Amino acid sequence: MSERDAAIAPTAHYTAHVWKRLGLPYATMFATAEGARLFWTLRLAGEWLTLLTPKVPTMVEYLAQRHLLIEAALDDLSPDRIVELGAGLSRRGVTWAVDKKVRYLEVDLPHMVRAKQAAIDTHLPPRLRADVRARLELASCDVLSEELPHWLAARLADSRRPVVVAEGLVGYFAPQERDRLAAGIAAALRAVGGGAFVCDLRSTEGGKAIARARRGLELGIKLITRGRGSRADFLSEDDVRAFFRRAGFSSAEPVDRRRVGRVARTPSPARIWVARV
Ligand SMILES: C[S@@+](CC[C@H](N)C(=O)[O-])C[C@H]1O[C@@H](n2cnc3c(N)ncnc32)[C@H](O)[C@@H]1O
Repeated sequence: MSERDAAIAPTAHYTAHVWKRLGLPYATMFATAEGARLFWTLRLAGEWLTLLTPKVPTMVEYLAQRHLLIEAALDDLSPDRIVELGAGLSRRGVTWAVDKKVRYLEVDLPHMVRAKQAAIDTHLPPRLRADVRARLELASCDVLSEELPHWLAARLADSRRPVVVAEGLVGYFAPQERDRLAAGIAAALRAVGGGAFVCDLRSTEGGKAIARARRGLELGIKLITRGRGSRADFLSEDDVRAFFRRAGFSSAEPVDRRRVGRVARTPSPARIWVARV
């Protein structure tokens, strides 16, 4: 595992623990002791302060908004095939394969795919086995590799409404890596006749409440990633739109936070974007 991968990997354990705390379907299967340890380390290191300051979201509120808005965007797109890049230990693949009967491919680095497969082998209830076997697939691929466009296009080829998802992934990459990744996804979607890309991106605009939220989140992410943190945020929504345009997407719009009432009021520097080819 490279230094970069080793720094990002713990975040998947942390988020899996959060999906369990939120009571999301199938999340218990993927929660790990490592995730619980990271969760309580962050809480005791100072995150508890954010519980007393409603204008600064807790990490759980921030992640709940991100996860549920992505879920809502997927519902709206009504995909017949989803490929999730950097899927980690997310419960989304099982949910869509079992409850929504959609073919789902989860992509991650080899060590994380092994951990995910082990969790499925150990914890998947027998009544879900047939659906998971029929519709959920796990694959290893470095999404920053040059083979991505080709590799992705081959896996999307037989779908009519393909959607590529990346949650909590793009922000860890340097600007040139983000550009390459987005261009690769756009090229793959174009090769199969079009589709959508859904991801979360943070930007620095938005006033004092958002600036406070950003500082809190940055500290939290630094702690979970042992000091590495995520990379620079985009400057504005215009900056994000330019990023998608450069990559070859024909349109890009943020998801309205009111789409999920339960998380609509959480101040967050992140927006969920739906970019189309
Ligand atoms: C912050 S975690 C998010 C996990 C999941 N999407 C979620 O929200 O619960 C980021 C994930 O991206 C994966 N990842 C990091 N770099 C990657 C790369 N170059 N190729 C594929 N996956 C990568 C990590 O292994 C990790 O599982």
